[in-house]
Amino acid sequence: MPHPTRILCVCLGNICRSPTAEAALRAALGDGAQVDSAGTGAWHVGEPPYPPMQAAGRRLGLAMADLRARQVSLADFRRFDLILAMDRQNLRDLQALDPGGGARLALYLDPLGGGDVPDPYYTRDFDGVAAQIVQAAGAWAESL
Ligand code: 4NP
Repeated sequence: MPHPTRILCVCLGNICRSPTAEAALRAALGDGAQVDSAGTGAWHVGEPPYPPMQAAGRRLGLAMADLRARQVSLADFRRFDLILAMDRQNLRDLQALDPGGGARLALYLDPLGGGDVPDPYYTRDFDGVAAQIVQAAGAWAESL
């Protein structure tokens, strides 16, 4: 059963958590899903996912090499039905940009009880975060 929902995953840099979530949701929801990712910051625009993050994703079967970082834009709030923030700071940043009347905003970990996906760019726990992201993608697939 294809999922018509258009989902955007958002983190700070769009090179660690949100591209992993994009790949995990695409795998969990199947071909009918429209899934993308973006960052609230612009530092890494145009870059592929951070190599240690790609390696951790690959160990779980996620293909991320072709993804490229971009920054969230105002148009995203109407292009997507659901925008999933990786942490509460990302959510606050999205709420500050939100023109209203468009996408629903939520935390990526809401189906697992909420809270933050820790940023592996700083914690260096790429495998732990990848596993958490895949688990939450499965929970979204159950609840959408
Ligand atoms: P992400 O991790 O938000 O999960 O992509 C980060 C990567 C890079 C930076 C911050 C967070 N940075 O500031 O360069």
